[in-house]
Amino acid sequence: MTPIYQTATYVQTALGDHKGYEYARTQNPTRTALQDALAAIENGKFALSFSSGIAATDAVLKLLNPGDEVITANDMYGGTYRLFTKIFEKYGLKFHFIDLRDTNNLKNHINDKTKLIWMETPTNPMMNIIDIAGTAKILKEHKILLCVDNTFASPYLQNPLDHGADIVLHSATKYLGGHSDVVHGCLIMNDPALKEKLEFIQNSCGAVPGPQDCFLVLRGLKTLHVRMQRHSENGAKIARWLKNNPAVGEVHYCGFEDHPGHDIAKKQMRDFGGMISFTLHNDSMEAAQKVLETTKLFSLAESLGGVESLIGHPATMTHASIPREERIKNGLADSLIRLSVGIEDVDDLIADLDNAIGKADETASKKEPGRKVVSA
Ligand SMILES: Cc1ncc(COP(=O)(O)O)c(C=O)c1O
Repeated sequence: MTPIYQTATYVQTALGDHKGYEYARTQNPTRTALQDALAAIENGKFALSFSSGIAATDAVLKLLNPGDEVITANDMYGGTYRLFTKIFEKYGLKFHFIDLRDTNNLKNHINDKTKLIWMETPTNPMMNIIDIAGTAKILKEHKILLCVDNTFASPYLQNPLDHGADIVLHSATKYLGGHSDVVHGCLIMNDPALKEKLEFIQNSCGAVPGPQDCFLVLRGLKTLHVRMQRHSENGAKIARWLKNNPAVGEVHYCGFEDHPGHDIAKKQMRDFGGMISFTLHNDSMEAAQKVLETTKLFSLAESLGGVESLIGHPATMTHASIPREERIKNGLADSLIRLSVGIEDVDDLIADLDNAIGKADETASKKEPGRKVVSA
């Protein structure tokens, strides 16, 4: 096993003669082993590890200069939105939040100040799909970087560099680590000049991970393929079960044939993963809260991608930093529930949801006499 090099500095043989490692903000052998593995599984030449997914995002944004413009999808992790609007707008970057499901929308916003396109696919939490190759094709005639946050899919399901992205980002806190025991981020790329610039930012700004965290992510990677198989299998069964449940409203899952992005998802993904979001037939905050507080196997918590199933409420948890009007405009209802389907026995998970959704529906029907209980 790769040792955890719990080392801040490295003894040098002579002045100007070191053994490849000088100081651990710049390099650490455990981190090097992880970075090599991350590059390999994303079909990239280089990878850089960071202390969190947000630290990796921060490094990409620092490639830009005041006055530069970024076009980004209007559906994304709330913390990324917060970093863009509350930190980087202050330093003179301009962000356009647009619907990237139709890649043609890009053409109306690209100008000579556009330097970066930012996207998640599938998006968090609406499970929208964006065409990576289609976007890269439009950018070909411009000098604009395409960065894809691949956290929801993981490299097992999707490799954005193969579809023309310049940078892939992961919150490795999620599927790569896989056990909800580490916060970590990474960037993967092919261009040596880009790697050099990002490495300079990484070393200069210092948001580097500790060696123990690198070890944990490295260990997580060893089971990524088996975990993702089970996440996807369980995800598909639960999504179908939710869709057939009359107490459930809309189910957002890109594995459904009638999902608007399904054909593109099939083109760029190998399977559809374990992330699902849904609303209830009784689309009230109260009913959603009842579900969120009743499940037992699905723990109420932020985050995703661990072996344990999690249930969350984007409007007040992961996406609380997005103004309500913005959220609602982009389809993120107050009552939306997000599931990170784990690798437990799927029948146990369905029984857990059945109980919670049934209870929420019963409560609602008591408040509205005459209303028919629609629990499955
Ligand atoms: C899609 C996505 N990208 C980035 C991040 C940020 O990662 P981290 O929490 O590791 O900083 C998150 C966190 O939830 C996420 O869901």
